[in-house]
Parts: sequence; C-alpha cells; structure tokens
Amino acid sequence: MNQVEASAPGKLYIAGEYAVVEPGHPAILVAVDQFLTVKVSQSETVGTIHSSHYSSIPLQWTRENGKLMIDERENPFHYLLAAIDYTERYVKECGQELSIFHLVVDSELDSANGLKYGLGSSAAVTVATVRALLKYYGLTETDELVFKLSVLAHLSVKSNGSFGDIAAATYTGWLAYSSFDRKWVKDRLNTHSIKSIVELDWPAFMVEKLTPPSELKLLIGWTGSPASTTDLVDQVKENREAKEQNYQDFLNRSKACVENMIQAFRKGSLADIQTEIRKNRLILKEMSENTGVSIETETLEQLCEDAEAFHGAAKTSGAGGGDCGIALFDRSSSLNDLVSRWQTHDITLLPLKVYARS
Ligand code: PMV
Ligand code: MG
Repeated sequence: MNQVEASAPGKLYIAGEYAVVEPGHPAILVAVDQFLTVKVSQSETVGTIHSSHYSSIPLQWTRENGKLMIDERENPFHYLLAAIDYTERYVKECGQELSIFHLVVDSELDSANGLKYGLGSSAAVTVATVRALLKYYGLTETDELVFKLSVLAHLSVKSNGSFGDIAAATYTGWLAYSSFDRKWVKDRLNTHSIKSIVELDWPAFMVEKLTPPSELKLLIGWTGSPASTTDLVDQVKENREAKEQNYQDFLNRSKACVENMIQAFRKGSLADIQTEIRKNRLILKEMSENTGVSIETETLEQLCEDAEAFHGAAKTSGAGGGDCGIALFDRSSSLNDLVSRWQTHDITLLPLKVYARS
C-alpha cells in the first residue's frame, strides 16, 4: 500500500478559558497555519514510530519524594500511542484487519530550538494520527469521528482539559466550542463498544464555525516562557473549592461573556467582540486573584497594555502563566510601532494566520 498522510493545525484560545473545562461553557478558538503531519506506510515485519516532534521538545520531569517523575499527561508519546490504540479498536470493530506500519511524525508546532509556543501539539498529534490511520485502513474520516476518537484517546491519558484544542485541530477556522459531559462518556466506556460510543450524541457537546468580521485582525504575541496547561488547570481545580461560590460566579460570567461574543460574531460586530474580549480578560483576572493562580504574568500584562495603546482588545490566550497573548484590532490600524514596542518588552509577534480547511 502507498503511504498515507494527514495533518492537523495548531490552535489558540481566543476566549472562555478555564470555564470551558465545565460542560456547556463555551470558548472561542482558532486553528493556526502551523501543522503537525503524520505519515503511515505499510511494513512487512516490524513497525516503527519516528518523530521529529519528540526529539526536539524536552520531556518535563519533577522530583517527588526523591524520585524522578514524568507526568504522563505531559508526555506527547502517550497521546500518540493512545490515538493508535483507540483508532485501531474502532477499525477492528468495523470488521477490518489490522496490519503493521511505519509511522512518522513531523511537527512545525514547536520552535526549532525546542521551545514550546503552547500551540497544542498533543491535540494535533492525536488528531493527525487518528486521521492518518482512518485513511490507512480505508475508513471515512468525518470531523465528528476524528474529534470523538481523539477525545477518547485523551481521556485514557487522564487529560484534565476541555478538549477545545482537539476541536480546533479537527474542525479548524474560527470556532465556538463547548465540552461534553465527560462522566457520561466515561460511563459508556464500560458498557459500549468504541464504535457505538462515537455514533451517539454526546450531551452538551457543541461546535459552531464562526465567521470573523472582515475588518478583524488578530495578532499573536509570544512571551518566550513556556507554561504547563495541565499543571495550571490542576492548580485552579485545587484552589477553587475554598471559594466555590466565587468559582460558580466566574463560570456564569464567563459563559455570559462568551455567549455575547458569539452573538457579536454572528452580527459581524468587531466593536462588540472587542468589548467582550476586554470583559473576559477582567473575569479571568478576578478568578486568578481568587484562586491565587498566576494567569496574566507581568509580560502578558505588558503585551495587553501595549496592544490597548494601539486600540486593540487584548488578553491572555489559553491557560496563561506564559505562552501567548492575543489582540484583536481593526485591520486599518497601523501596527508596526506596536510590534517594535512588543519587541522592547521581549514579546515576539508570531507570524501566524488563522487556518480554515476548505
Ligand atoms: O494554554 P492552552 O492554550 O493549552 O489553553 C488551555 C485552556 C484551558 O481552558 C485553561 C484548559 C482547557 O483545556 O480548556
Ligand atoms: Mg498555554
């Protein structure tokens, strides 16, 4: 058989972070034009897995009780293996024979010197692997099937996120997304085949493609310091209980804000989108103060202030604590001076564009 190939893009959060981890709380995301590609070709004897991705990014570890510990949720190899496992279970349930293959991963999602931009490489490697294997075994790859198999793979790695990264890497473009009832899906893993789970409607799961107003311009600034989303989400979970009422308020306010933002996209109003971006920034700041988890670092605050000085609506993107910030402008603004100002504050403009698969 000839070689098959599938790619998945990186992602960035625009709004709704943290709240989106709870089912039914929407977020807005974009897919960006940096890709991770998986190639699969048949082998006669032994299979191999080769990845530029894993050789370039460092594997993080900590010391616990004197022992070297690797959080398996931070190890991209687990996502790849889980993606193969769940896709092959599905393929077998469809009555297909499994075979031996060589699998090669090529990633543009991390910088050449191994720094992480936080563009969602674990999601992209999962989505690209699921797509490539479905192609390899000659099965139809609908976006919904790819999303659901990728989610099952991430659930098995005990990922604590919302899976918005998987939605962006699968559906691409500008997207509104709400996560599904995770317990409902997990319960079915004990009683249903993979094929029947992916064919069910998952409660609260929502994806809607958004069309940005034509005058909207998105800039992405990178702070140069990598952050661990897994760790930040754990920290927020640990600290929310002490002030549960505050956290419930945060969830309600984030939901209302992102729903207004979705309406603003439907109306095509850049001004209203910008208003909600600024509101979402404040909502996240307050949650950060209540939980004591640092989301808007000093550099991210600077990134936002600089963008605001050029009439942009800016906020942290994703879990914060480093990685990237985003800023939305009117396309007619002249932004060269902003880029230099960012540079003097050690913020790098990432020359990324939103990617929508046609
Ligand atoms: O830091 P990122 O870009 O991986 O985004 C994380 C967003 C959270 O809402 C904090 C977690 C999640 O999985 O949705
Ligand atoms: Mg991040």
